Amino acid sequence: MENLSKTELLYDGNEKQIYATQDPDKVIIRYKDVTTAYKNIKRARFEGIGAYNNKISAMLFEELGKEGIDNHFIRLVSDTEQLCRKIVWINIVVVVHNWFAGSLARRLNIAEGVKCPNVIVDFRYNSDELDDPLINDDQAVALGLASYEELKFIDATSRKINEILLKRFSDAGIKLVDFKIEFGRTADGQIILSDELSPDRCRLWDAETGKKLDKDRFRQDLGYIVDGYKEVYERLKK
Ligand code: C5P
Repeated sequence: MENLSKTELLYDGNEKQIYATQDPDKVIIRYKDVTTAYKNIKRARFEGIGAYNNKISAMLFEELGKEGIDNHFIRLVSDTEQLCRKIVWINIVVVVHNWFAGSLARRLNIAEGVKCPNVIVDFRYNSDELDDPLINDDQAVALGLASYEELKFIDATSRKINEILLKRFSDAGIKLVDFKIEFGRTADGQIILSDELSPDRCRLWDAETGKKLDKDRFRQDLGYIVDGYKEVYERLKK
């Protein structure tokens, strides 16, 4: 296996860093022990959280790859780092909902925890300045974010990812309430799943008790944040 290492720091985000490697088409993503919420207004350091996000994301991306979902993950480099294909971000945030919660529950005035009668896929414009507003296909095309055909592909792929993950989490005794994913374009123009899939990006509730095992523990000051992430990792690993 090629021996790539971190060279130049390309991006220093709130929760992750992206480094160039000796291969121009590959990057190393390093997960920090930091969690942020509400556009970075709330921010804290939690020992071990980066490793759980990295390892959970790696496990799920690897499994999705085997199920035919092309994605950026290549291999783990360390507990907090992974080697990935380099992509150019598509500035669309995709959020998939199976149960009403969070902003969707508030926007439609439906109680948190009610099952969605059908899967709901939202596209949001990835813009801190505008607070990631909901957009439809026409708006996404008008903004030059993607073509109609690409949006169809992103929508269909997101639904397929949801089917795979719903079962995967359900087998681990966890409800996949909702999650956020992002896609990117590779150098040859292919659209692939990128970013991460972890308790930082998903709402995950214990199927029996409803206990929250995700970033809402931090957003809502419920405590035992890393314990929730650890539990997700250990249940998925079984
Ligand atoms: O905040 P909201 O209820 O819209 O979040 C829906 C889902 O998307 C949640 O699982 C949340 O963790 C995820 N999300 C995210 N990053 C954001 C916004 C939402 O991971 N910036």
